[in-house]
Amino acid sequence: MKHYLFFIGILFMTNTLNAQNMKEIKLNAPNKTRGASLMQALNDRESVREFSNKSLSTQDLSDLLWAANGINRPDSKKRTAPSALNKQDVDIYVCLPEGIYLYDAEKNSLKPVAEGDHRAAVGGQQDFVQTAPVSLILVSDISRFGMGDNEQIRLMAAMDAGIVSQNINLFCAANNLVTVPRASMDKDKLKKVLNLKEHQLLLMNNPVGYPQKK
Ligand SMILES: Cc1cc2nc3c(=O)[nH]c(=O)nc-3n(C[C@H](O)[C@H](O)[C@H](O)COP(=O)(O)O)c2cc1C
Repeated sequence: MKHYLFFIGILFMTNTLNAQNMKEIKLNAPNKTRGASLMQALNDRESVREFSNKSLSTQDLSDLLWAANGINRPDSKKRTAPSALNKQDVDIYVCLPEGIYLYDAEKNSLKPVAEGDHRAAVGGQQDFVQTAPVSLILVSDISRFGMGDNEQIRLMAAMDAGIVSQNINLFCAANNLVTVPRASMDKDKLKKVLNLKEHQLLLMNNPVGYPQKK
């Protein structure tokens, strides 16, 4: 028992140390009046795999995250993306060159998770991902469904993540940002970096940036 507690303690410390030099980032209130029309965004949406190396402005990052899965009805805390059984199972991890953060929609902030540049793990076999200034990693916590782990639950998790990804795709198309929805990534590495449990599924990611000037 003593050994077990010691082991848990070390695991906890390692995880805390992973983010000890990082601070919570407060996001801006979303600007809900920006962007092209929905029809124009649908017309312009495309997968783009080349990015300018410019970092995203705080306003663009804030608006991107709110559009992806922010709270749009504060009374019920419901989100811009629907979710199966209203379980709001999709969490967004925000991979920046200096570290990975977790989007806290209620506090409208980014919580430190892991220090360092982990973009190669997001990219997996696709190196272009390392040139994007931010990647949003979509993780479904299927324990929120409270129904164990089975095919139907995993399908709902995947559908929920797909909807969040499409919010990202459309926000980018409407706001002069570029992105590509991706299912590939180095899942083994990312699971370790994010300290994910078995019930947290790495489903998709969207590298995002400004378009490269032609
Ligand atoms: C579920 C899903 C997974 C995808 N995974 C990847 C991926 O791992 N890497 C990639 O470069 N593109 C990926 N894509 C993007 C598709 O290749 C792209 O949507 C398709 O070629 C059509 O191009 P368009 O998005 O410009 O219409 C994925 C798209 C979806 C919907």
